Amino acid sequence: MEKQTISVIGAGHVGLVTAAGFAQLGHQVLAVDDDQQKINLLRQDKMPFFEPELEGLVHRGVRSGRLSFSTRIKDAVDQAEIIFICVGTPSGNDGEADLSFLEKVIAGIAANLSAYRLIVEKSTVPVLTGEWVKYTLQTLGPKRVPFDLAANPEFLREGTAVFDFFHPDRIVIGTETERARNLMARVYQGVETELLFTDIKSAELIKHTSNSFLALKISYINAVSRICEKVGADINLVARGMGLDRRIGTKHLNAGIGYGGSCFPKDVAAFLHLANRVGYDFKILKAVEEVNREQKLLAFSKIKNRVGTLSGRTLGVLGLTFKADTDDIRESPALEIVRMLSQAGAVVQAYDPASGTAAQRTVPALKLVSSPYAAAKDACALLVLTDWPEFAGLDFKRIRDNLRSPVIFDGRNFLDRERLVALGFQYLAIGRPSG
Ligand code: UDX
Repeated sequence: MEKQTISVIGAGHVGLVTAAGFAQLGHQVLAVDDDQQKINLLRQDKMPFFEPELEGLVHRGVRSGRLSFSTRIKDAVDQAEIIFICVGTPSGNDGEADLSFLEKVIAGIAANLSAYRLIVEKSTVPVLTGEWVKYTLQTLGPKRVPFDLAANPEFLREGTAVFDFFHPDRIVIGTETERARNLMARVYQGVETELLFTDIKSAELIKHTSNSFLALKISYINAVSRICEKVGADINLVARGMGLDRRIGTKHLNAGIGYGGSCFPKDVAAFLHLANRVGYDFKILKAVEEVNREQKLLAFSKIKNRVGTLSGRTLGVLGLTFKADTDDIRESPALEIVRMLSQAGAVVQAYDPASGTAAQRTVPALKLVSSPYAAAKDACALLVLTDWPEFAGLDFKRIRDNLRSPVIFDGRNFLDRERLVALGFQYLAIGRPSG
């Protein structure tokens, strides 16, 4: 197997997993980030954020001598033939993707280009960004140095990103030349999956289309959960019955308090913005956003209706992150609900296995406690807002005895309803009969 020299610009959730993953595949990798503090941490063998299995992967890469770090774009361009761009593309005005980090990187690459390089967009970017990148490199870069561009969208999920890197459902590679195709095929040698080669625009579109479709599945099942509530059906059974049809699939069909995180909200907004720009009224995707917004309000009113006056009442909360197995609170629906409850005057005492201080910075009134039982202590309801597996296995007798009244809101529909009802809980969920 032929090894490549690779640099990865941006050592965030996507970039660091990608860099360490390529090092594990045997390539020589330089991870570059302009955040000096992050690079210092990595050089001291410390992780800048929590992601299961990443620490071991990074340490192995460093020990093998195949993974190193730098803060300089010049190093990224000088030392590697293939440059992956993994910088953030956050939401700007009107949901438009803010490409300013990408712009800075492209200018840096253009300023240092002195021999052939393959430049790969891995950050999530709107379709047509590749055209702009090419034009910018041609305009700002040296005239006689050849380069290729590829679009290679990432599909990593936080919490299982390392597993996803080595076991992807597919690898999408948009290119324009044979040389770029061959290099990209070599980069991924060792990962068993289908390589789908496309043009650059189609590859860019596949990313936004996939994430928006997953968000659509979630909003669809959340919308159906409203009907379940009106007719007395159970959304978990409805979703299971639907999902067993292999054309539909069981994944991303869990009803709950809505989707969050660093990808779905921003990608749906960016895709809507792009559709608008090219003159298409993407009605179905607007509805996806709308349903997701409503889910948080729905959760808030369910809690309020059960508890009555919120002002001065103590509520226990389990889970603050946008989903389980991460310390990430970006666009977390759990935290949004906590914010609404706090604003309505409730005293919220919360426990989260991975995120504490960051959540408290966002909602300063939040009282952090160190165990699920402390969150339940003297509260008039316990709200489970993130589906951390450990929450399903709690000692619910103890929880019940700690609560002032045995009310539990299962915002992710994952607790054992029958057991809780048998223990004397009043059980509230999304689209499931209350008990
Ligand atoms: C997502 C995509 O899955 C991944 O392919 C892409 O590369 C990045 O965006 P991620 O944001 O890490 O990954 O999380 P994901 O597991 O997809 O969950 C996103 C949100 O949807 C979370 O808030 C989660 O709780 C919610 N969700 C997920 C549901 O409400 N119901 C579901 O059935 C699944």
